[in-house]
Amino acid sequence: MNIILLGPPGAGKGTQARHLVETRGMIQLSTGDMLRDARTSGTEMGQKVAEIMDAGKLVTDEIVIGLIEEQLTTKKGAGFIFDGFPRTLAQADALSALLAKHGQSLHTVIEMRVDDDALVSRITARSTCANCGEVYNDITKPIPADGKCSNCGGSEFKRRADDNEESLRTRLMEYYKKTSPLIGYYYAKGDLRPVNGLADIKEVTASIEAILG
Ligand code: AP5
Repeated sequence: MNIILLGPPGAGKGTQARHLVETRGMIQLSTGDMLRDARTSGTEMGQKVAEIMDAGKLVTDEIVIGLIEEQLTTKKGAGFIFDGFPRTLAQADALSALLAKHGQSLHTVIEMRVDDDALVSRITARSTCANCGEVYNDITKPIPADGKCSNCGGSEFKRRADDNEESLRTRLMEYYKKTSPLIGYYYAKGDLRPVNGLADIKEVTASIEAILG
């Protein structure tokens, strides 16, 4: 079963994807994570990617489609969770073609509905475990009092360079201009299933589980 988690920055895509990986053995394909790896590669491409990401702009379709194709070819598991991909209509068309090429199809597109006011506090309060990537939030999911990650026991946590209000404004603008048209695109195909992303993390998980069956 291959699914897309669709929603603006901070909607909770990464949080829910991690749960599906743990409970269903699915494979999370986060283009954001892949690009964060690429930016530390020391290459000229990595430097360009870092500048684009820090500004909150979208990286070119060509780069992200290439990254996804590589993963589709090499990874095997109980289906893919596309997290943060596709983000443009060109990426959506490319994903359909890639899945068809690999004899696969798309099961569902989960649209995580949230409002913009909630996103600012979610993004500016986010941190992740440097070891395993577990996502925390100063307000809604604080790092345990002993300073150790509840998932792996790691004690180092990091914040993203693009998790500030200025970059978030650009990220939201990019979302509304280039990504939100995908809601209509997948609705018309009959693939779209909305969930209330403003609910408590466990409630959002239950809504997604109910859709996936
Ligand atoms: P990417 O890494 O994909 O970031 P994003 O889409 O901006 O999404 P986020 O990771 O910020 O949020 P999320 O929805 O995963 O929320 P999370 O679960 O962490 O992309 C980064 C950049 O890479 C882009 O700006 C672009 O430059 C580039 N890029 C990536 N993909 C690309 C593509 N396909 N094409 C072109 N460029 C691309 O949750 C956020 C916080 O809220 C956490 O603290 C969490 O604990 C908390 N939280 C989660 N759920 C809840 C809840 N239900 N209630 C309360 N708090 C919650």
